[in-house]
Order: sequence, then structure tokens, then C-alpha cells
Amino acid sequence: MSRSETVLVTGAAGFIGSTLVDQLLEEGREVIGLDSFDPFYPEEQKRENLAAAMRSSGFRLVEGDIRDAALVDSLMGETGVGCIVHLAALAGVRPSLERPAAYADVNVNGTAVLLEAAVRHDCPRMVFASSSSVYGERTSGPFLETDRVDRPISPYAATKKAGELLAHSFHSAHGLDVTCVRFFTAYGPRQRPDLAIRRFAERMRAGEPIPIFGDGSVVRDFTFVGDVADGLVRAVDTSLGYAILNFGAGRSVTLLEMIEVLERTLGVEAKKDFQAPQVGDVPRTLADVTAARQALGYEPRVQLEEGIARFVAWLDAKS
Ligand SMILES: NC(=O)c1ccc[n+]([C@@H]2O[C@H](COP(=O)([O-])OP(=O)(O)OC[C@H]3O[C@@H](n4cnc5c(N)ncnc54)[C@H](O)[C@@H]3O)[C@@H](O)[C@H]2O)c1
Repeated sequence: MSRSETVLVTGAAGFIGSTLVDQLLEEGREVIGLDSFDPFYPEEQKRENLAAAMRSSGFRLVEGDIRDAALVDSLMGETGVGCIVHLAALAGVRPSLERPAAYADVNVNGTAVLLEAAVRHDCPRMVFASSSSVYGERTSGPFLETDRVDRPISPYAATKKAGELLAHSFHSAHGLDVTCVRFFTAYGPRQRPDLAIRRFAERMRAGEPIPIFGDGSVVRDFTFVGDVADGLVRAVDTSLGYAILNFGAGRSVTLLEMIEVLERTLGVEAKKDFQAPQVGDVPRTLADVTAARQALGYEPRVQLEEGIARFVAWLDAKS
């Protein structure tokens, strides 16, 4: 897209969305942020996430729902949007087992509304937030974008694969460029309160036990949110036709190893409360990021120790 065109970021008040918005504004881009301030976690944090962006003349916040076709239509109609970065979703694997229909409505129907509007208003590109959870129950890795992904183990993962499929149909029928980005456990400043690093750090600080589902041997590819946002900025400007790309760090870390890094950074020993494994949680994620590197110059730079130190500094500044 031409750098003068506006970027529409859905889910702009969220963890990844607000980090991306700040990065785009730093580059002098015009950004519209669309967010419904869904009550999944407190609105107050989302307002804080956008505090810096709200002071920028390049940013406009629109409070509304991605499923509101008339609203999306009017937004797309009034400005030349060069790219939609579609991050709005009901996120979280475990809650999707309790509310599968709500997840399907927001994550699938909402995505269809945006794809339709993109085509109607000649917007050339969408970047769609998919997830490593589409890889399902795997015991070995690293995961490649060409691996089989038709066995999701949570409704959330199924909605993300459905989004990728819908996007492909719009690419095929209308020539819309879509880059589907599979995020691998993003963490860092502004992290969602339901995600493990944040929940653990807050409980450890309070001297409370941390619940560990399973024996702590599950493996995650923790990816620093700034690296994710940097990759997204690159995707905004790159025409790839239809592409699926892993955004991970390419490093596998067990839950117990992650807790050790938190213990060292916080100077607190964790009280571990081992519980039964949770339905829907995949045992392992590990990204092969070769394709993202080649297509976008994506480069995960921040190591876990440094990323957790930056996360803890943010937590300290907040409290
Ligand atoms: N954080 C991760 O590790 C991770 C991993 C894989 C995929 N993802 C995906 O990345 C995206 C961003 O995740 P996040 O961690 O920043 O989550 P987040 O919950 O912090 O952000 C999502 C934002 O979307 C908004 N939203 C929800 N429903 C909406 C609707 N109907 N209309 C408008 N806005 C709505 C929410 O208010 C929220 O601000 C999501 O699509 C998520 O599924 C995240």
C-alpha cells in the first residue's frame, strides 16, 4: 500500500493491537482503531493501552463492533483504507469451550463482514490474526505452515482456521491480498490478564500459589509482542497474494522453564499448585519462521529473559 493510505486496525485497544497502533503511529502512519471494548477483561486496561495513541493526531478511535456491517461500511467508505489489520476477536482457548457460539459469531462472522467491506471498497489487503492453536495436538515440531491443520482441539482454534479459509475464498474470488499470521503465545507489556505469564507474575507478587495445569512440561514458543508488531507492520506493506505465516520466536520453552525466568526476574519463589491438564490446551507449540523471514524480513529479536524483564518493568510502572 502507499504510505499515505490509512490502516484500519480492528481490536486496536487490545494487547497486540495497541502495540501495533503505537508502532504504526511512530512511523507517521494514519490509523483508525476499531474496538468494541469487549468485557473479556477490564476496559480500564484497554483505555490505558491506547493512552499514547489518543494523543496522536494520526489516530482515530472508533468504538464499535466488527459485526456491525453498516459501521464498517461507513468507516471504509469515508477514508481510503489501504490495509485492514484484523486482530479483533474473542481470544482465549479455554473460555471458547464455554461459549463456542459466541466465538464463532465474533471470529467467523465478524471476519466475513470485514472481508466483504474490503472488497466493496477496493481495499487491496487484509492481515488476519490467526493462531498457533490451529496446529492442534502435536508432540513434535517445529510447525510448518504447510502442515495439516484440520484437527483443532478447541472452538477457538476452529474459528481461527475458519477465518483463514474464508480469507482464501475472498482472495480467490475477488483478488484480495490476505496474509494470515499465526501468532505463537505473544507476551510482553500490556499482556492480557488471562495469559499465563501475567497471571503467574501477579500471583507470585501477591505470595499466592500459581495453578499449573499438567506437570509443567507443556512447551510454548513465547514471542515478544514488539517482534509480533514489527512483523505486522511489514505485512501491512507487503503484497503476498494469499499467504500464511508463522510469527513465533522459534524457541521452545517449557512452562517450568518460563516460571524459573519469572522467579529470577521477580526475585520470588513460585508456589506451584499442580492441577489436572485442561481440555483444549495443546501440549506443544514451536514455530518454523523461515517463511515469514523470507517473505517479510520478520525477525524475532527479543529473548525470553529480556522480554520478561520488559514485561515486569511495565507491571511495576502500572502498580
Ligand atoms: N495474544 C496471543 O498470544 C495470541 C495468540 C494467537 C492469536 N492471537 C490473536 O491475536 C489477536 C489479538 O489478540 P490479543 O492477545 O491482543 O487479544 P485482546 O483481547 O487483548 O485484543 C482483542 C481486542 O478485540 C476487541 N474485540 C473483541 N470483540 C470485538 C468485536 N466484536 N468488535 C470489535 N472489537 C472487538 C477486544 O475489545 C480487544 O480489545 C486476536 O485475534 C487473537 O485471537 C493472540
